[in-house]
Amino acid sequence: MLKSGENSDIFPTSAMALLPILRYPDARLHKVARPVAAVDERVRTLVRDMIETMYGAQGIGLAATQVDVHERVVVIDVSEERNAPLVLINPELLWASAERVMGEEGCLSVPGIYDGVERAAQVRVRALDEHGQAREIEADGLLAVCIQHEMDHLLGKVFVEYLSPLKRGRIKTKLQKAERQDKAERVREPV
Ligand code: NI
Repeated sequence: MLKSGENSDIFPTSAMALLPILRYPDARLHKVARPVAAVDERVRTLVRDMIETMYGAQGIGLAATQVDVHERVVVIDVSEERNAPLVLINPELLWASAERVMGEEGCLSVPGIYDGVERAAQVRVRALDEHGQAREIEADGLLAVCIQHEMDHLLGKVFVEYLSPLKRGRIKTKLQKAERQDKAERVREPV
C-alpha cells in the first residue's frame, strides 16, 4: 500500500480523504453519471480524494461512480512509480481502433475477481483536466484498457457484465457471501 505522501506534487496531500468504494452488485454502480458542469474547487477536492482512494486501494483507475458520486470524473495511474495521475473529466471517446485485444481485468468494486475482457487496442479521448483544460489523449496498451474500463463505470457498467451470465451469477453469489461475512465480523468485533 502506498502512503499519501507519495502522490504527485501537483496534488497536495493535506485534507485528503479515503472514500468508501461501492462493491458489486450494489445497484448504485449501475447509475449513469452526469457531466461535470464546472471544474471548481468542489470537483478538485473530489479528484484529490479519488486519487488518494485509488492509491490507498492499490488500484490503477477509479471512476466517481465507484465512490457513489454520479458525475463524469475518472482518475487513472498506470505508472510503475505511482506518481503520474491522469485526470479525465467529462471524457469523450473520439476514436477506437478496429483492432481488439483480450486482457485480464480486475476492479476495485469487484474485489478478488479477475477475468478476460476484449477491448479496443487503441483509443483517443478528449477530456478536461483538474484545471478545466481540454486535452486529447491517445492511448494503447494498459492505459487504453483502463480508460475504457473506467468510462464504462460512468455509464453504469461493470466489467463483469462482459462475462457469461453463469460466471456473473457465481461472482455475485461469492461477493454477496463475502459482504455478509464482513457484516457479521463487524457486529462481533465493533471497531
Ligand atoms: Ni472498475
